[in-house]
Amino acid sequence: MITESARIAPDVVMRPATPEDAGGLARARVRSRAHLEPWEPTRPEDYFTSQAQAARLRSQLEECRAGRTAPWVLDRAGEMVGSVTLSNISLGPFRSGVLGYWIGVDHIGRGLATAAVTQACVFADAELGLHRVEAGTLLDNVPSQRVLAKCGFEEFGVAPEYLHINGAWRDHRLFQRILNDRCP
Ligand SMILES: CC(C)(COP(=O)(O)OP(=O)(O)OC[C@H]1O[C@@H](n2cnc3c(N)ncnc32)[C@H](O)[C@@H]1OP(=O)(O)O)[C@@H](O)C(=O)NCCC(=O)NCCS
Repeated sequence: MITESARIAPDVVMRPATPEDAGGLARARVRSRAHLEPWEPTRPEDYFTSQAQAARLRSQLEECRAGRTAPWVLDRAGEMVGSVTLSNISLGPFRSGVLGYWIGVDHIGRGLATAAVTQACVFADAELGLHRVEAGTLLDNVPSQRVLAKCGFEEFGVAPEYLHINGAWRDHRLFQRILNDRCP
């Protein structure tokens, strides 16, 4: 489980997602649909409804209670301006998770992703006790690569046909950040 929140900009708080966020996430997804489409899996039409977002949140929060996922939203006075999710969390000698994130089209270019990814690393280290965070970007997702570089991530390889994004299996650049050298 995750419980901690943090202010990442004067008007934005990063906090654990709750079931009540479904409507706000659906509205943000509708506004940012064209902006996010090239960088994400193909979404079914009903993905953009409150009902689908509620179902998605229920499954994510169940995964969260099991310690496998940590979903945060970026909340601007009740409006969702983005989200960050640490998924595939694995403990034991690995102590690692995979980071995904997006920022709503009305709020890009103001440093929110950099602040949110930085904060996710703080939570991953201090609250979740992880050793490492990984993220993958499409080869041409230069803004996301820039975010990861600013947050101290290092590239460790290119994975061919790594994820099914916008209708095809696509190569990804893989990045990681080591958070600490604590023993598991
Ligand atoms: C990628 C994304 C998360 C960045 O969010 P953001 O809040 O705008 O990011 P930030 O403002 O923190 O930083 C963006 C950086 O990329 C740079 N950048 C933006 N467009 C760029 C471009 N076309 N070429 C080079 N650099 C670019 C910005 O100048 C900034 O770097 P700087 O601070 O050195 O100037 C956002 O655009 C998004 O949601 N994209 C779609 C979903 C996505 O790609 N998610 C990540 C999947 S790996």
